[in-house]
Amino acid sequence: MKLAIYPGSFDPVTFGHIEIISRAAKMFDKLIVLVSVNPLKPNSFTREERLEMLSETVQVEGFDNVEVDSYDGLLIDYFKQRDADVIVRGLRAVSDFEYEFQMAQANRKLCPKAETVFLASKSEYTYFSSSVVKQIGMFGGDIKDFVPEYILGRIANRLKK
Ligand code: PNS
Repeated sequence: MKLAIYPGSFDPVTFGHIEIISRAAKMFDKLIVLVSVNPLKPNSFTREERLEMLSETVQVEGFDNVEVDSYDGLLIDYFKQRDADVIVRGLRAVSDFEYEFQMAQANRKLCPKAETVFLASKSEYTYFSSSVVKQIGMFGGDIKDFVPEYILGRIANRLKK
């Protein structure tokens, strides 16, 4: 059984993430979407809120082989604990590459078994990011093209506060 982990901040989840989840879920027997800590980014949503929105996404979209979890430590420690095979990351543009490449190399140094698979984002999602969603939402802009309607109200209300 091939087990993959898709880690990220998901602060909040966007259509860009959902598209990666959907494709990765078809490539592996099981996919864990892991809410992780990025020490370089402050979060707007609590871990519980992010987990809740991701769980709802998985349920509504009918991703049967996808589990949602969170971990506060090193991704690679979780990877080892779960005896996973692959780390999945989305690549939107060349500008993502250096950071992603560094993470993949560091993770493989810490655990030689850890393969990172990069999925190229669909072209319509290349400029999507949680930060863009947060900026638009904070100033009361319309975020309906960026996040699913079943979590839209929650995200918009939270960002306006
Ligand atoms: O969605 P993001 O913020 O780009 O995701 C980055 C994330 C959370 C996957 C990365 O910061 C991470 O792996 N955090 C867990 C801590 C860790 O293992 N850091 C070392 C990576 S080499």
